Amino acid sequence: KSDVAGDLADILITEEQIGTRLDEMAAQIDADYAGKDVLLVGVLKGAVMVMADLSRRLHHPLEMDWMAVSSYGSGTKSSGVVRILKDLDTDLSGRDVLIAEDIIDSGLTLSWLVQNLRSRGPASVEIATLLRKPDAAKVDVDVRYVGFDIPNEFVVGYGLDYAEKYRNLPFIGTLAPHVYS
Ligand code: PRP
Ligand code: MN
Ligand code: MG
Repeated sequence: KSDVAGDLADILITEEQIGTRLDEMAAQIDADYAGKDVLLVGVLKGAVMVMADLSRRLHHPLEMDWMAVSSYGSGTKSSGVVRILKDLDTDLSGRDVLIAEDIIDSGLTLSWLVQNLRSRGPASVEIATLLRKPDAAKVDVDVRYVGFDIPNEFVVGYGLDYAEKYRNLPFIGTLAPHVYS
């Protein structure tokens, strides 16, 4: 129960691989947003690591705000029901909004969120996600920046939880079957 390593089946993406990819994504974002102030929106709770590590790699003016939405509850399956647990503090009129996410799984959370934020009159809304599961997509989400496309397996770490645990792992891993039972 106390041994996290024993709960893991595999390491899918290492800490080093995450860092290297975030370097590349940040360089691309810096180039694309040259001359613009970015409002980086982190989607709590999963995006905390991406938000922290991506924002530190960006080199031009930005503000950070947070939204908390949840669609998963405590299980491993998306309920499809998105709830706003905490809204933004920032007025989006005319802003260039970049949403930072840990993962796009079914796509339900982000497709809902993008629509919601676009209705608030921003200049632009784009998405940067570390992970995406192409085989799990239930709706198409137009994503500008993707770190890694991964297989349709339940992953944890680097912000991603199972029943609120494992978010603090510095890498992306898969869980051993005994954890679910
Ligand atoms: C997870 C993840 C994404 C979303 C992706 O969040 O962090 O935000 O699910 O799933 P989807 O593409 O199928 O909608 P969750 O709802 O578990 O909340 P959390 O970030 O607080 O863990
Ligand atoms: Mn999330
Ligand atoms: Mg979750």
